[in-house]
Amino acid sequence: MVQSAVRILVTGAAGQIGYALVPMIAKGAMLGPDQPVILHMLDIKPAAEALKGVKMELIDAAFPLLKGMPLNLQDCLTMGRFLTSYGCIIAGVVATTDVAEACKDVNIAVMVGGFPRTEGMERKDVMSKNVSIYKAQASALEQHAAPNCKVLVVANPANSNALILKEFAPSIPEKNITCLTRLDHNRALGQISERLNVHVGDVKNVIIWGNHSSTQYPDVNHATVMTSAGEKPVSELVHDDQWQLHLLNSEFVATVQQRGAAIIKARKLSSALSAASSACDHIRDWVLGTPQGSWVSMGVYSDGSYGIQPGIIYSFPVTCQKGEWSIVQGLKIDEFSREKMDATAKELIEEKSLAYSCLKG
Ligand code: NAD
Ligand code: LMR
Repeated sequence: MVQSAVRILVTGAAGQIGYALVPMIAKGAMLGPDQPVILHMLDIKPAAEALKGVKMELIDAAFPLLKGMPLNLQDCLTMGRFLTSYGCIIAGVVATTDVAEACKDVNIAVMVGGFPRTEGMERKDVMSKNVSIYKAQASALEQHAAPNCKVLVVANPANSNALILKEFAPSIPEKNITCLTRLDHNRALGQISERLNVHVGDVKNVIIWGNHSSTQYPDVNHATVMTSAGEKPVSELVHDDQWQLHLLNSEFVATVQQRGAAIIKARKLSSALSAASSACDHIRDWVLGTPQGSWVSMGVYSDGSYGIQPGIIYSFPVTCQKGEWSIVQGLKIDEFSREKMDATAKELIEEKSLAYSCLKG
């Protein structure tokens, strides 16, 4: 049976993450190799020409999953489409600077549009520019997106932008609004794999707690590696490898926390291909489910789990099933972790009031 196409919005699609992300989606990295998609790409007027160029490239790449939509005769005539004896087809790409058109009937929204951090800036510095965009786009999504649209906010400050989007789109269920901390999660997996010289696919169950910022807490206390002798806790292998435990609590944590800044320093641009790939991972696991026995990190609306106050979007370990995420419960939290988890929550509470003051000003 032919599956019907899923409409996916990518805002900021002419930017660097957008440029890396749209071909990944069109190749099936987000929803699998058999799921047709229609890409809705939004950017602002000054980027309209560049956006047109991205659309041209998507057409030139001839992605089979970018599904054309059959139109009825009236629509064909209205749109001035060329009619053949087979009917009339429009391409599976919408490229627009009109936010209402971009949001129309989308099932998934990946919100990348905004201003990136440059060298020396903290994420808070991009706050005033970006939160007002998220307030405006919240209303557009609420009015025009398909019911049950799943939203992933990538643009920084990602947690606070997602919170503003949630607050100004009250009819979108709060469970449907998330932010990207999967990049940090993947960075933590990558660091463990490099340090222990194990395959990254054999490492699992790291956790990113809190904010997608330098206060995030990458936690390896529950992480494991699949070895020829079975599944081993990372802490055991670290001991074997002389990578002392204190390194996991200091150097490892700092490396993951500062990785975004290190990429900016090296590239003079913020991360793009890893951000795009992690956005695909986030949506794929949310929609298609997490593998048995493993969890991922997602920024979600806190329900008070682990003593994190409700009212902020905080990164937790989650498992996903049938398109729904649930916070993993019952993990043991040591004193060191408690302190770090609370520090990043405190930053998010401060960011929340800063975000509101930016919206007033
Ligand atoms: P970029 O500047 O290359 O692209 C951003 C695009 O957004 C531009 O094309 C710009 O014209 C567009 N834009 C600006 N305002 C818009 C609006 N109102 N509506 C639609 N589009 C709009 O930046 P980038 O490198 O692609 O990064 C995008 C965002 O993602 C930044 O905020 C960056 O800090 C963030 N980021 C987040 C993560 C994460 O893990 N959460 C990782 C990397 C980057
Ligand atoms: C990242 O983590 O790479 C991005 O959020 C860019 C940044 O501002 O650090």
